[in-house]
Amino acid sequence: MNYQEIFEKISDELKDFEQIGQVAAYIPALAKANPNSFGMYLVTEEGHEYAHGDTDTPFSIQSISKVLSLVYAFKLVGTDLWKRVGVEPSGSPFNSLVQLEYEQGIPRNPLINAGAIVICDILLSHLNEPYDNFIAFVRELAGNSGIDYSSKTAESEKACGFKNNAHINLMKSFGNIENDVEEVLDFYFHLCSIEMSCKDLAQTFMFLARSGKNPLNGKQVLSARETKRINAIMLLCGFYDEAGEFAFKVGLPGKSGVGGGIVAIYPDQYSIAVWSPGLNSKGNSSKGIKALEIFTTITQSNVFGPSPIFDELEYE
Ligand code: DON
Repeated sequence: MNYQEIFEKISDELKDFEQIGQVAAYIPALAKANPNSFGMYLVTEEGHEYAHGDTDTPFSIQSISKVLSLVYAFKLVGTDLWKRVGVEPSGSPFNSLVQLEYEQGIPRNPLINAGAIVICDILLSHLNEPYDNFIAFVRELAGNSGIDYSSKTAESEKACGFKNNAHINLMKSFGNIENDVEEVLDFYFHLCSIEMSCKDLAQTFMFLARSGKNPLNGKQVLSARETKRINAIMLLCGFYDEAGEFAFKVGLPGKSGVGGGIVAIYPDQYSIAVWSPGLNSKGNSSKGIKALEIFTTITQSNVFGPSPIFDELEYE
């Protein structure tokens, strides 16, 4: 399959895309993003890589880090994790507080803000050098030792992170936060602030398309069974109150962030990352979702259909 041509076709088709949306302005550091940035990067099972557009520019991965922190915590504490956080889709915005009180401080899932904050609490309790350990984990997955936190973005978010403060305090009142709330939130904001390119993201998530094995060094990050669980959570919760729509249109497990990145995987086949900072009303990259919808339509690759037929594909 000529992925390069497919990327060009997508880019052409979306040249004048009108519903590009707004960049995230509630975190001042993200408001400066250029809404016209656009990149797509694909890594295949055979190790081939395809790039289009701004694929080497690092951007703020924001909530995409929630999958990586979930994986790390799952490795550390195993199934005990599910005593602190659920695995059900929330059907609510990523920062909604409504369910958290009804459900006694146990977040619906690890990919909404409340859930990711609990995961940060667990990591702080189990790691000696949480900031160093976590970034080392990400760098190894990406095969890029240059990946780092952006203290500027973390501080910018901290200065106006009132809702995340509300989440953590509510959970603390229910006994679901062990550490100091300021320390947990600082760690959470730093994880969100990590900067990666489309290339880094596609490479990093490849282990989730390879039954848990990091293709760069052959290390088993998670077992195949654990990997299934992470992919299931991404499919059901990765896009918040747009998870159904993403499954409906794209048909792959994936994760978005308010920096405009999306990464999605097709088990045994590929990992793909897209970046376009304009967000729709649900906080997900508008053009990014459209680009992935076209990609999986042309390639007939989605987890709900038959195995793809890689020749004689037609798209119209
Ligand atoms: O806590 C926040 O609001 C941000 N640091 C992350 C939110 C996010 O990326 C949601 N994703 N679409």
